[in-house]
Amino acid sequence: MEDLSPRPGDLEPIEAASRDEINALQLERMRWSLGHAYENSPFYRKRFDEKGVHPSDLRELKDLAKFPFTVKKDLRDNYPFGMYAVPMDRIARVHASSGTTGKPTVVGYTKGDVDIWATVVARSIRASGGRPGDLLHCAYGYGLFTGGLGAHYGAEKLGCTVVPVSGGMTERQVTLITDFKPRIIMVTPSYMLSILDEFRRQGLDPAACSLAVGIFGAEPWTNSVREEIERTFDMHAVDIYGLSEIIGPGVANECVETKDGLHVWEDHFYPEIIDPETGEPLPDGEYGELVFTSLTKEAQPMVRYRTRDLTRILPGTARSMRRIEKITGRSDDMMILRGVNVFPTQIEEQVLKCSGLAPHFQIELVREGRMDAMIVHVEASEISAGEEARQASARELAHHIKSVIGISTKIDVGEPGAVERSLGKARRVVDNRPKE
Ligand code: DLL
Repeated sequence: MEDLSPRPGDLEPIEAASRDEINALQLERMRWSLGHAYENSPFYRKRFDEKGVHPSDLRELKDLAKFPFTVKKDLRDNYPFGMYAVPMDRIARVHASSGTTGKPTVVGYTKGDVDIWATVVARSIRASGGRPGDLLHCAYGYGLFTGGLGAHYGAEKLGCTVVPVSGGMTERQVTLITDFKPRIIMVTPSYMLSILDEFRRQGLDPAACSLAVGIFGAEPWTNSVREEIERTFDMHAVDIYGLSEIIGPGVANECVETKDGLHVWEDHFYPEIIDPETGEPLPDGEYGELVFTSLTKEAQPMVRYRTRDLTRILPGTARSMRRIEKITGRSDDMMILRGVNVFPTQIEEQVLKCSGLAPHFQIELVREGRMDAMIVHVEASEISAGEEARQASARELAHHIKSVIGISTKIDVGEPGAVERSLGKARRVVDNRPKE
């Protein structure tokens, strides 16, 4: 694979700034953001007053801990437009994330916000090894989901030629990749694996295609999937993170030259890690829940938004901005089986170890008597795999899960294609336990 380290002059000055410069900028912007939220968002004025805090209480960055958290329910309770800090006629765009339950959470952007968003996505694509002039195949979903349009505006800002394919029509995805010869692809990692299947189905060698860099995110994925994609496509696979409430994709991104966690674009988003039980801030290096405060967002400032994503903060490496470790799960994805905490990514790692299995999986939770049980649905990698080979794969996977994670599971090995596919984020867990 090509060495895609940045060349002199590639980076924005802030990406090469010292920690002191970054901290000073953060403090100045945090003061502005808290003041803006308090002055212009009735929601935040009430919240701050209830907690007895005022923006002037922020003298240094760590004073942020005095301020209240914001949670997803706050957005739902203020559905659709109740959290804005600017008049409606300054809102240039709305997006929404479809929650699994209840109303979607709606987010709004001013023109300035859309521009900052494009800047951080452009920076993310560049960190991933993208350059002006690259042809970029964008297969994140377009529409209310922030993935498609977020990636699109960032790619245009960097100076790429964007092919706005969106998700779906997998056969056509492969045709367009083969014919247009993009250098970059942006798509969820689970859908990239479906594209991989389609290359093989059409008898094409994925390693021979033009793709040099894939920028994958919107869902947790493991280094095992990274290795699978890098090996089969002979391309770099880089992680992009973000969430609608904070802006969309482009909150943090890996650097292609290190792939050692995602640098948070700290000039716009201030990260904290808290103990999810007590809400106390934890020092860098400790695992907990990721919390963000927006530093520059106008339409919908977010103060200490609890993401539910679990990770830890690490010092900068390829850039001076700090990193978050690759996110392996959300607190709401965590399953507890017979006292053992399990995340879907742990299952993913074990599936990828079994050579007779394709990398697709879905977990079904069922009730057996009074106990919860887990069925892992997977599929054989070869259509020709006989019953015996499938049973052997099932035993192998059950054994890996038992010995590494410590739980007993039933394994259902179906035909290639048997596991539900998603065009965007994969649905990893289906809960079929009876409702109490
Ligand atoms: O998924 C934004 C996005 C689009 C990010 C395209 C990257 C690429 P939401 O739909 O609001 O926004 O979902 C946000 O998805 O809190 C995480 O739980 C999860 N997530 C996003 N990126 C990653 C990642 C977009 N790289 C939620 N690794 C977040 C793990 C991720 N989880």
